[in-house]
Amino acid sequence: MEKCLLLGNGAREAVIAEAMSEKYEMYCVMPYENPSIAEFIQKSNGKFEIGNPFDKELVKKFVGENEIKYCIISNDNLLQDGLIDLAKELGLKTFGPTSKGAKIEWSKTYALEVVKKLAPEMIIKNFEVTSLAELDDALANYSDENFVIKPEGLTGGKGVKVGGVHFETKAEGENYAKECLQQSGKVIVQDKVKGKEFTVMCITDGKTVVPLPITFDYPYRFDEDKGPGTGGMGCIGFANGLLPFLIEEDVATCSHLIQKTVDYLNKDGQEFTGILYGGFFKTDEGIKFIEFNARFGDPEAMNVINSFETPFAEVVTSVFEGNLSPEKCQFNGKNSFLVYVVSKEYALKSKVPPVEFTLNKESIESKGVKIYFANAKKIEENQYTSVSNSRLFAIEKTGDDFEEIKKQVYQVIQEEVDPVLDYRNDIGNMYEH
Ligand code: GLY
Repeated sequence: MEKCLLLGNGAREAVIAEAMSEKYEMYCVMPYENPSIAEFIQKSNGKFEIGNPFDKELVKKFVGENEIKYCIISNDNLLQDGLIDLAKELGLKTFGPTSKGAKIEWSKTYALEVVKKLAPEMIIKNFEVTSLAELDDALANYSDENFVIKPEGLTGGKGVKVGGVHFETKAEGENYAKECLQQSGKVIVQDKVKGKEFTVMCITDGKTVVPLPITFDYPYRFDEDKGPGTGGMGCIGFANGLLPFLIEEDVATCSHLIQKTVDYLNKDGQEFTGILYGGFFKTDEGIKFIEFNARFGDPEAMNVINSFETPFAEVVTSVFEGNLSPEKCQFNGKNSFLVYVVSKEYALKSKVPPVEFTLNKESIESKGVKIYFANAKKIEENQYTSVSNSRLFAIEKTGDDFEEIKKQVYQVIQEEVDPVLDYRNDIGNMYEH
């Protein structure tokens, strides 16, 4: 078996490790022992090292010692930091953009500039602000809180604040914009549009772009989309690969932009392979662009990778080799349903003491669902601890009947999840914003 390096330590990387281990011996440098990643690596006869994946000397040594030939990365910070660039320098075949390619995610102003060139009709009116005077000018366009503030850099899906949802008054919005400006010297003020939000994820080998089944993520912390934004509290996907409010033509409009963006990013050399994932609004005036991510969404990756009929590792191989085609990406036409389990303080406080919890993995798996660990590690049999105040583990099920898989996931959660932990009870419902 060929050897493949995976960097990143979340549940997204756990599902990547699971799928890739069908064809590759998997290797990983991770900051703590993620129980799922460790399990799949061991099953593949690969190896992991506990260490800092941002430490390029450490990663270089690990690649050399283990004679690794392939690399897959889908974590925003690692991509921004140039770990794919390092893998390329070491002669590995890669899945994931270089830091320059990933700029489409880590610079929101750059993404807007690119889309303005490629599809101006998809741009929502916005102001790029680099000083307090420019902020005053931009905010003079709004008489109330009906605008959106977008920080420039990576925020793990938690940075965008919408007037009337995340802040109540114009002054509150202004204060947040000032905070962002202070942090990175740039902030975007954008019109608030009415519409339905959705994402389109595409896989690409740098030339060919293939759309993946559409998923619907639940970013808000509490039921009925209340509370602060999070990395995602749950995610669903339907058998037809669409959402109730979308038609094929909507997806085609977004995929077309994604194809043009990949072509643009690769015009001077191969900067982008892997996943390009756009956030969009369906409005009365057509589809509008929100932002790009240069990687799989988390939790979306767990729904989508479980929706492949073609083994995902085969698809990744065609990305490594540069011969991806739509025929090589067949999907199983099933529904997928996922709920993330978190600490009670997740997204509410940044620093909290570790949370210890009981969990019987074998019992959960025996009930026909999958579990993917994220920011948690095992301390003894059936005993785990959080390693940060991020999401802890996800429960996922794929199947023919959406209501049935939803019932099954929630039943397992009710029977098995330690009451010291928390989750949303309404994944599967759809709300208007
Ligand atoms: N679930 C949203 C993200 O991965 O950015």
